[in-house]
Amino acid sequence: MLTYQTLPARHVSEFAAAVREGLLKPGQRELPSKYLYDEVGSALFEAICLLPEYGLTRADARLLQTHAQEIVDLLPSPIHVAELGSGTGKKTRWILEALSRRQRTYYFPIEISPSALAACEKELGQIDLVSIVGYEQPYLEGLQAVAQGRYEGDHLLVLFLGSTIGNFDRAAGEDFLGAVREILRPGDVLLLGTDLEKDVATQLLAYNDPAGVTAAFNLNLLGRINRELGADFDLAGFEHDARWNYEERRIEMHLRSMQRQSVKIPAANLRVMFNQGETIWTESSHKYRPEEVVRMAERTGFRCEGQWIDDEWAFTQNLLVVE
Ligand code: AVI
Repeated sequence: MLTYQTLPARHVSEFAAAVREGLLKPGQRELPSKYLYDEVGSALFEAICLLPEYGLTRADARLLQTHAQEIVDLLPSPIHVAELGSGTGKKTRWILEALSRRQRTYYFPIEISPSALAACEKELGQIDLVSIVGYEQPYLEGLQAVAQGRYEGDHLLVLFLGSTIGNFDRAAGEDFLGAVREILRPGDVLLLGTDLEKDVATQLLAYNDPAGVTAAFNLNLLGRINRELGADFDLAGFEHDARWNYEERRIEMHLRSMQRQSVKIPAANLRVMFNQGETIWTESSHKYRPEEVVRMAERTGFRCEGQWIDDEWAFTQNLLVVE
């Protein structure tokens, strides 16, 4: 695989600034969820995807496996594939195999984690007639580079799978779709995977599994701050808290301080006093309704050409064509 453009080594100070800003936020302290994914966090997320309580990833993969040919039959030709946040790329195999039966295909995984890009090439590097060119960049910058580099008549299929859109606030998710649309041309296609609203007990269990893997994933964020910013968080003094916000229709992950305690974060030039019971909000996972995805697509310049819903776990794949 060819890999284009690594990120500059500015993430430590960016990370320190984000931690400082989030922990000093008046009202509710926060940490941005993108920092959950260091090497340990990414490995824990892979484990979450295997948990019986977390049906999301399996539903996403099942829909792609079952409907790959149908999806590919709806695509214009020739078309190449860009994936936003490819991870290890496991689920993408079905689409690439179906496409490669009809044409030589370029696959552009766009991913800020170099280890995920390497895993992706290992997973998908052997498919006949598929060439992989990785972009180690944030989503929109990577997509811009892919779109600019293509030939005049080539179309793009953009994959945004795994309900990553759910980790954006609803308005920010819609803005993001609009920004993707701006980079694309009429006839290009976005395949968007979103988790759907389901009964609250099932949703809570998916984010608070009895084996404690999601708790470890959440607490690792404090471990990362200790490792990278020299902080002294006592991980045993915080507990994982997953709750359903009825109004916003989202799961929220928090870390609750179990006692009054003070923490030093030298690289962020910060000392924070936590009260007993006070929380740090670390992630939101918004859940959607099928018709809500269609309306959001229409408002951002797409037309929904196909929507598939899994029978076992309420999750949907949406084929959105640029108008
Ligand atoms: C990556 N993202 C879609 C996952 C989700 O379900 O929101 C991250 C995750 N957080 C806890 N479990 C999984």
